[in-house]
Amino acid sequence: MIIPLAHRADQAQEYYFSVKLAEVRKLVAAGHDVINIGIGNPDMMPSDATLDALETSARQPGAHGYQSYKGIPAFRAAIARFYAHTYDVALDPETEILPLIGSKEGITHLSLTFLNDGDRVLVPELGYPAYRAVSQMVGADVQEYPLLENENWQPDWNAMADLVTEKTKMIWLNYPHMPTGAPATRALFERAVRFAHDHRVLLCHDNPYSLILNKKPPISLLSIDGAREVAVELNSMSKSHNMAGWRIGWLAAARSYIDAVLTIKSNVDSGTFLAIQQAAVAALANSDDWHRQRNAVYEDRLDAAKAFLDALGCTYTNDQEGMFLWARLPDSIASAEVLVDELLYNRHVFIAPGFIFGPKGNRYIRVSLCMPKERIWAAVERLKTV
Ligand SMILES: Cc1ncc(COP(=O)(O)O)c(C=O)c1O
Repeated sequence: MIIPLAHRADQAQEYYFSVKLAEVRKLVAAGHDVINIGIGNPDMMPSDATLDALETSARQPGAHGYQSYKGIPAFRAAIARFYAHTYDVALDPETEILPLIGSKEGITHLSLTFLNDGDRVLVPELGYPAYRAVSQMVGADVQEYPLLENENWQPDWNAMADLVTEKTKMIWLNYPHMPTGAPATRALFERAVRFAHDHRVLLCHDNPYSLILNKKPPISLLSIDGAREVAVELNSMSKSHNMAGWRIGWLAAARSYIDAVLTIKSNVDSGTFLAIQQAAVAALANSDDWHRQRNAVYEDRLDAAKAFLDALGCTYTNDQEGMFLWARLPDSIASAEVLVDELLYNRHVFIAPGFIFGPKGNRYIRVSLCMPKERIWAAVERLKTV
């Protein structure tokens, strides 16, 4: 290529899974039966009502045109009902909800909306890699704030305060936490909102796992007093409704934040396919029992996932939420990178190495529950020859 790249493209690295899953596909194309317990890609179906609504809607003659940038009113109303039912949080569907093409998209829009070149962003070390990558792409100064392993991966607020300068604009927070499975608590969220007020920074909470294997009723950061002035919340149907490939989520926030993000977003995409929005309305009405049954399936896979980790000699806690198990490697395993490749190329089992979530993850791996338990047990069997 004779055209030089933009600096941001020069500096950015392709997403780890984008690279690694290409390797997995190559192995599969060569005839190998790869068991992928690396990624959080739900293997279960959306509810029947969701699929019926998709089909009915897609067959309407008027369904295929551009949609409103703010989503259809029925979808925003369904999100408001879901927030009221799930989190006891009242949202105005007209002004406080912005549908997104997945919450990953929202990370970019929030960053484009609020960050100037050189503004400081605090991201969790460990955390979802997109917070750091997108912040870097928009020219922000990314600082990682530590999580305290012996306090179940809660933020180290004192260390965080030391990282704040007058250029600090934004903090990323995500509980239930990925990858460690640490739960959300009201005390943690209250502390976060206080911190955001004290330091006048925007608190961006990413909340896709609140309904997956949660031990206590799910919490929204927006339920905390004073949150609406300083905080916004991303949410997603990828995990909670088994709709990862549909690309549907939303931003919930006070009107001024929603309006500002819409200004940016309306210049980038042109809304979401009507049938997806109408199916999402049906999905958001899934009963509590539907959610319980989904969690019962994940629960039923835990024994196999733990047996896999036990066979490797890993240690892990039993109170993790979300669809993964996060586990520490034994000293006998020299490195996660070597282990992941050994398992992928010699046993045809794919797991995620902890370092992709930050340097503190060097001695960890993440195993996903998004595979039928028979397949996870098959992965355990393959370890017996290691
Ligand atoms: C913490 C976290 N945030 C956001 C996302 C992206 O979700 P979505 O599918 O809604 O873009 C993921 C997906 O794995 C995630 O783990």
